[in-house]
Amino acid sequence: MKIDLRSDTVTKPSGEMLETMFSAKVGDDVLGEDPTLNELENKAANIFGMEAGLFCPSGTMTNQIAIKVQTSPGDEVICDSSAHVYNFEGGGIAFNSASSVRLINGNRGRFLASDVLDNINPDNVHYPHTQLVVIENTSNKGGGSIWKFGEIEKIKKVCSENNLSLHLDGARIFNALTETGENARDYGKVFDTISICLSKGLGTPVGSVLLGKADLIKKARRFRRVLGGGMRQGGYLGAAGIYALDHNIGRLKEDHKRAKQLAEILGKISIVEEILPVETNIVMFKLSPGLTETNFLKTIADENLLAVPFGKQTIRMVTHLDFTDDQLFQTRSILRKLFG
Ligand SMILES: Cc1ncc(COP(=O)(O)O)c(C=O)c1O
Repeated sequence: MKIDLRSDTVTKPSGEMLETMFSAKVGDDVLGEDPTLNELENKAANIFGMEAGLFCPSGTMTNQIAIKVQTSPGDEVICDSSAHVYNFEGGGIAFNSASSVRLINGNRGRFLASDVLDNINPDNVHYPHTQLVVIENTSNKGGGSIWKFGEIEKIKKVCSENNLSLHLDGARIFNALTETGENARDYGKVFDTISICLSKGLGTPVGSVLLGKADLIKKARRFRRVLGGGMRQGGYLGAAGIYALDHNIGRLKEDHKRAKQLAEILGKISIVEEILPVETNIVMFKLSPGLTETNFLKTIADENLLAVPFGKQTIRMVTHLDFTDDQLFQTRSILRKLFG
């Protein structure tokens, strides 16, 4: 059997999750009549103390809709140069929102309130109109790094003083909250919109929820329709989301523990030059000179161990619901056998 550390998206629904899905009460959600999706949206909104939620098929869609409903063509979005919304959503900000992007070179995906202030354009016809700031917590390309909530609050202050909206790409926000013990409702107070993913660490087959004020989510629902994302009896997927919020948040610390153990193993392998500090479930490391990421990945794939490249000589491994202690043990044996 393969040990798949390419992403926390590779998990398959558990038997219990599937049973919950089979027995979901459903209706036509485009008509607002799917009780399970309505329940999921309310539940997710309630966790963050926000007014409303919108279920979408993916985190890319929730992010892109959030950007669309909070910008106008010609606006500018501030985010980190490593941000998912900029790097991995197919140029969606340009395509969907006709907005430009101002990149900040932060520290492992995180920047400061002073960086935001420095990147707001003057109110002058020459410049794009700065409108939205996007924060990604945890930061994927930053190796699962966690933002300091105090800095987020300072960024919120800068946004409020300059009439900017603030969006959280919270694909892995529950990983961050699990580690810090912070309250989701504090996040709900600071952000205008939050995207949470159910299909990463929380283990559903499909789904993300966009959270925000009721009027903004009403606009978002309209744009989801434009994108063809209005689903009918989506409650079967919604039931998986409810199950995940009830059962799979508390166990994320296991993934974090295994990620740290994995980093310890990698730290003893000769071909690993540097490992980013492990804060959550992502392990990002650099190979020593001479070994390309392609060669490394092929060598481990031949032993049924899978990971992904994340830049030059950089590899990402992600722990998740389906990665067990036994698999961790096997991973150690494979890496020791191959690289000593
Ligand atoms: C930080 C972050 N945001 C958004 C997404 C997009 O999620 P999806 O793959 O559901 O579109 C991902 C996916 O890996 C991600 O890592």
